[in-house]
Amino acid sequence: MKGHLKVENIRIAAQGKEIVKGVSLEVKPGQIVAIMGPNGSGKSTLANAIMGHPEYEVTAGKIVLDGEDLTPLSVDQRAKKGLFLSFQYPSAIEGVTISNFLRTARNAVKNITMNVIEFNNLLKEKMNLLCIDQKFISRYLNQGFSGGEKKKAEILQLAILEPSVAILDETDSGLDVDALKVVAEGITKTRTKEMGILIITHYCRILDYLKPDVVHVMLNGRIVKTGSSELAKELEKSGYAKYQKLSVIQ
Ligand SMILES: Nc1ncnc2c1ncn2[C@@H]1O[C@H](COP(=O)(O)OP(=O)(O)OP(=O)(O)O)[C@@H](O)[C@H]1O
Ligand SMILES: [Mg+2]
Repeated sequence: MKGHLKVENIRIAAQGKEIVKGVSLEVKPGQIVAIMGPNGSGKSTLANAIMGHPEYEVTAGKIVLDGEDLTPLSVDQRAKKGLFLSFQYPSAIEGVTISNFLRTARNAVKNITMNVIEFNNLLKEKMNLLCIDQKFISRYLNQGFSGGEKKKAEILQLAILEPSVAILDETDSGLDVDALKVVAEGITKTRTKEMGILIITHYCRILDYLKPDVVHVMLNGRIVKTGSSELAKELEKSGYAKYQKLSVIQ
């Protein structure tokens, strides 16, 4: 089955320090699972390690995508298996246009060679779907992009790569109300029935558009509470203080 991610009792260290201390979670096909939690709780570390970022060492547990253990695989291999991670701080790559970048990425992930004309037609179609200006195509990747434009480029990348499971790390941060709506609608339009989404966010607003099936609270490298979309609303109102003591229990 496609769109199924299972993280089993994972522990993650960076530079010899344990950051994620035994986390299990599951994104079933078609589900939206949200992770919320204060700054520094290990959310991005978890996302990066699931994607296979070499800076993060998985010291225990495993990551299973569509029944296959990804833990020994590289970032590129995981992308080919259908995993996608948005970038919290996408970097500018000199001299690479969005169009070229996305075509190279799609060809690599899907193991095909789509020519420029074919690809540009696909790109135009996706840009229309996501209400992104066609002028975007020839701009250099993230160079001089506003925060909102970077986020739209991320969603365009999601639409072009058509992953099995997408991890969206703060795709909503820094967006104005209208851009947030465009991005949320873009995710909705891009989703297939099976695509699993793991969304990391500090805010409820995007979750009003993309209603999560499950919400996890992460604190000090652990999941301390799991609930429904109501939990996200409660967190926005009352903060994380009442969960703080739960996170220090070994
Ligand atoms: N590569 C790294 N090397 C050393 N420490 C790291 C590394 N990456 C993250 N950390 C540390 O791990 C902790 C968790 O960081 P992480 O970025 O995962 O938090 P987060 O929950 O995503 O926070 P935010 O909400 O601010 O994005 C922090 O104390 C951070 O300094
Ligand atoms: Mg983060």
